Amino acid sequence: MIYPIVKFGKEVLEKPAAPVASFNGDLEKLVTDMFETMYAASGVGLAAPQIGISKRLCVIDISSGKDPSRRLVLVNPQIIDVEGTQAEEEGCLSLPVFRAKTPRPLHATVRAQDVTGNYFTQTGEGLLARAFCHETDHLNGVLFIKYLSRLKRDSIKRKVRKMMKAGEW
Ligand code: NI
Repeated sequence: MIYPIVKFGKEVLEKPAAPVASFNGDLEKLVTDMFETMYAASGVGLAAPQIGISKRLCVIDISSGKDPSRRLVLVNPQIIDVEGTQAEEEGCLSLPVFRAKTPRPLHATVRAQDVTGNYFTQTGEGLLARAFCHETDHLNGVLFIKYLSRLKRDSIKRKVRKMMKAGEW
């Protein structure tokens, strides 16, 4: 099932999500739906709050569906180590149209549970490190525009308000 993606302006995107406590068939179904929704939107990452579900869960595939071995499910993830810096263009399915050079660590290590509840640790570099940080941020109610200059952030917010008024958001 493909969910509609919640856009910036909705409260669910800016509040901390609740930990996942049950590892069952419902969670598996939700993960399947999240991958389907992410691929349909041509994204490389999707967090549960982006489909209106305030739970600490996200899916990532930096191959955009081309390489099934790249599929990652992070349940209750925590960034436990970061190293270096990068500043590439970043976007978010909840802020379509807008992309901006966003500072992030070059390497990021995440500790999370998989869909069955087993803990694992993985280090990502470059785009994967960016995705780990971006998606984990979503679960804390943080969007990438937080890391932009105030000028740039305000400009994006102003454009969103304009689009909301015009019924285009
Ligand atoms: Ni996002």
